[in-house]
Amino acid sequence: MKVAVIGCGTIANTAHIPAYMENEKAEIKYFCDIIPERAEAAVEKYGCGIAITDYKVALADPEIEAISVCTPNKVHPLIAIDALRAGKNVLCEKPAARTYKEALEMQKVQHETGKVLNIGVCNRFHNGVRVLKKLIDDGVFGDIFHVYVSFRAFRSIPGLGGAFTTKDIAGGGALIDWGVHFLDIVMYACGDPKPLTVTGEAFCKLGKNIPEYVYPGQMWAGPPILDGTYDVDDSVTALIRTEGPTITVNGAWAQNVKKEEMFIDFMGDKGGCRIDYYTKDFTVYTTKDGELYEYTPEFEQNVQIATEIDEFLDCIKSGDKLANHIDTNIITAKMMQAIYDSAETHREIVLD
Ligand SMILES: NC(=O)c1ccc[n+]([C@@H]2O[C@H](COP(=O)([O-])OP(=O)(O)OC[C@H]3O[C@@H](n4cnc5c(N)ncnc54)[C@H](O)[C@@H]3O)[C@@H](O)[C@H]2O)c1
Repeated sequence: MKVAVIGCGTIANTAHIPAYMENEKAEIKYFCDIIPERAEAAVEKYGCGIAITDYKVALADPEIEAISVCTPNKVHPLIAIDALRAGKNVLCEKPAARTYKEALEMQKVQHETGKVLNIGVCNRFHNGVRVLKKLIDDGVFGDIFHVYVSFRAFRSIPGLGGAFTTKDIAGGGALIDWGVHFLDIVMYACGDPKPLTVTGEAFCKLGKNIPEYVYPGQMWAGPPILDGTYDVDDSVTALIRTEGPTITVNGAWAQNVKKEEMFIDFMGDKGGCRIDYYTKDFTVYTTKDGELYEYTPEFEQNVQIATEIDEFLDCIKSGDKLANHIDTNIITAKMMQAIYDSAETHREIVLD
């Protein structure tokens, strides 16, 4: 299957391209980047494909069946919609778009064209998350009434001043960039419950004065751009009521507490667990025969984006609807929009 990778930056080089290279059913025909050197470097590094700067060249090629969109968030809708209309199947990086409205437009075009539109919420493809979901589905936790989400890092703003911290390009900060994954794990594990009400606050505090921002060691996604833009959330808090559990969210790219906390607690009336975001390890705390009982499920570690890409290619042939289809991802887009809307109005948002 001939594939085009649009955007040859970090996620393309660390995850998408290696996964396609490893997949014997796939062949990358185009590497596209508006920075020509990046597309050319990919051709040289991977020893295949054609370097292009305009993604429409790939869309016009009838041989291309699958497209990975690995660009900044702002152009996800444009490229994904153009690709769907050109008859291509799309795996678009997360978040689907900057806003719920844009994500809805993408979903509409997916429905019109019938082509695949999956969003890169790759944790759904991690074996650990899948094991957790199975335990929840099997009733091991009983009624899950509260899920507590924590994604909090110590002064770690990605590419301060650049695309990730510019609202017009990214749509938001810590919530839309990191929180999207955490909310997505909750939704997947709990069976995508319908969100009912959302209240939240989003804070743009620590990175506001870019030249004076103090950070430890190497800055993630490059050093600060001193005259760049910083108008997104570096921390967020929210309470979401759903038809399933109530979800409480605390997230921060940057906080003045030197503790990194990347976990999700699932609290059920029969059992509970804390899943580690990176390793996906978790211990189940429950009772058995009137005694406290805990156990740690074992699973084979896998590379989640590689699995996501393998299954993306397979679903194009099989017609299977994967768990990261736009139809499920749209719920997370709706929740994130409601958190931002609530933060802006300082009011609870009631969802329909
Ligand atoms: N799934 C994950 O865990 C994960 C991790 C990191 C990033 N991401 C997502 O991947 C996307 C890209 O992030 P990144 O860190 O790779 O960014 P990046 O800046 O390293 O790479 C983006 C590339 O896209 C190129 N580009 C921009 N507009 C383009 C266009 N119109 N056509 C072709 N190329 C274009 C840029 O020149 C750049 O090389 C973002 O949406 C981000 O949220 C996902």
